[in-house]
Amino acid sequence: MDVLTALLLLVHLIPVSAAKNGVSSKSRKRILPDPATEPPVTDPIYEALLYCNIPSVAEHSMEGHAPHHFKLVSVHVFIRHGDRYPLYVIPKTKRPEIDCTLVANRKPYHPKLEAFVSHMSKGSGASFESPLNSLPLYPNHPLCEMGELTQTGVVQHLQNGQLLRDIYLKKHKLLPTDWSADQLYLETTGKSRTLQSGLALLYGFLPDFDWKKIYFRHQPSALFCSGSCYCPVRNQYLEKEQRRQYLLRLKNSQLEKTYGEMAKIVDIPTKQLRAANPIDSMLCHFCHNVSFPCTRNGCVDMEHFKVIKTHQIEDEKERREKKLYLGYSLLGAHPILNQTISRMQRATEGRKEELFALYSAHDVTLSPVLSALGLSEARFPRFAARLIFELWQDREKPSEHSVRILYNGVDVTFHTSFCQDHHKRSPKPMCPLENLVHFVKRDMFVALGGSSTNYYDACHREGF
Ligand SMILES: *[C@@H]1O[C@H](CO)[C@@H](O)[C@H](O)[C@H]1NC(C)=O
Ligand SMILES: *[C@@H]1O[C@H](CO)[C@@H](O)[C@H](O)[C@H]1NC(C)=O
Repeated sequence: MDVLTALLLLVHLIPVSAAKNGVSSKSRKRILPDPATEPPVTDPIYEALLYCNIPSVAEHSMEGHAPHHFKLVSVHVFIRHGDRYPLYVIPKTKRPEIDCTLVANRKPYHPKLEAFVSHMSKGSGASFESPLNSLPLYPNHPLCEMGELTQTGVVQHLQNGQLLRDIYLKKHKLLPTDWSADQLYLETTGKSRTLQSGLALLYGFLPDFDWKKIYFRHQPSALFCSGSCYCPVRNQYLEKEQRRQYLLRLKNSQLEKTYGEMAKIVDIPTKQLRAANPIDSMLCHFCHNVSFPCTRNGCVDMEHFKVIKTHQIEDEKERREKKLYLGYSLLGAHPILNQTISRMQRATEGRKEELFALYSAHDVTLSPVLSALGLSEARFPRFAARLIFELWQDREKPSEHSVRILYNGVDVTFHTSFCQDHHKRSPKPMCPLENLVHFVKRDMFVALGGSSTNYYDACHREGF
């Protein structure tokens, strides 16, 4: 199959499954795939298409769904940046020709695209913590730079922003009409693609994008661990996890053969090809319908792509089973979850600051959070993935607060390890905030299996 055929397939697949995300009463039982609407076998091409997240028909989402007597108190949004140019080149090949300028008459398009460019090009004033000031505010290279956000990436987040605006601002009036900078909490890593993704989302979200009301903090760590990054046991889990990955790869003879063939095509040692992480670049070719690279010796093709992508799927499966990544994730995600519950607790006390928090991040940020929450069925974070925590207050019992967790618009609250059985006991369609708080303060360390009950001890456990 070539890229064109795969993309034609997309036209059939996206409207029935990914776009609607299986939003039905059944979506409670499983995250994705929904057994009723999605093929039972994991198909590498299908998975790759979901990963691309090509903007198509309007998406159905479950954000903001609550009974009438619930009031929305605060919202905490974690995003992965949108579609980007590869981070690596396949050595000795021409890199894909993708235009990273933003152009109205090119697909995908969003009605706010031109206004976004015009607003961004006027500059930002003092809206960013150093060193974010030095980053460009929107992608603007006729041939994308490495890792640069593309027009697709901008459109994905303009769409996310608009979707959240319709639900949280128009419907639930999360922000007062005279909202101020204090009511937003914005944080991004220091890459242009995360800052620009955050700006595009806010541009779609906010009723008036006023630089005076925007302040982005800089987060140096992709784990968003701020002052609590030092955690030796987390690093040990990661090393063991990487060892597992390496051993699984060695066992896959078809994968080794494929790397060998590709290395021959580009005329470099297999080792060097593997180190260049070709799947990253191949996904870009795939998502942008640009044919895979050729040399005098032949072409990289869809069969190569399928073998590598299939291996990725198998790797994720084994990763779930072996649980080393879970150990890494519980420790890696603690600081950001701890910060999130603190922010929620302040909101329950009636404080009106930080009602909307946005963390503009990476796959390596979202993936540990999903895993730590026990969402092991959740797919690997696609481009412009969003993970949302909603905090609600029961107007009939104002002292009671509840949370909902949504991943790419699907309600996953009752898939989390801290709320799995709750809905069987309670008619409320959400999870008590205390469940999440107890999980983050204590149970996530108990889940590690040792005797530690706090972050510091768990990070410094001897003899692990
Ligand atoms: C993919 O590219 C081919 C040309 O290389 C073009 O004919 C086709 O329409 C494109 N498909 C999509 C879905 O954009
Ligand atoms: C968790 O949050 C509390 C309250 O904000 C803070 O005092 C504590 O240091 C945090 N712990 C970690 C490990 O980040």
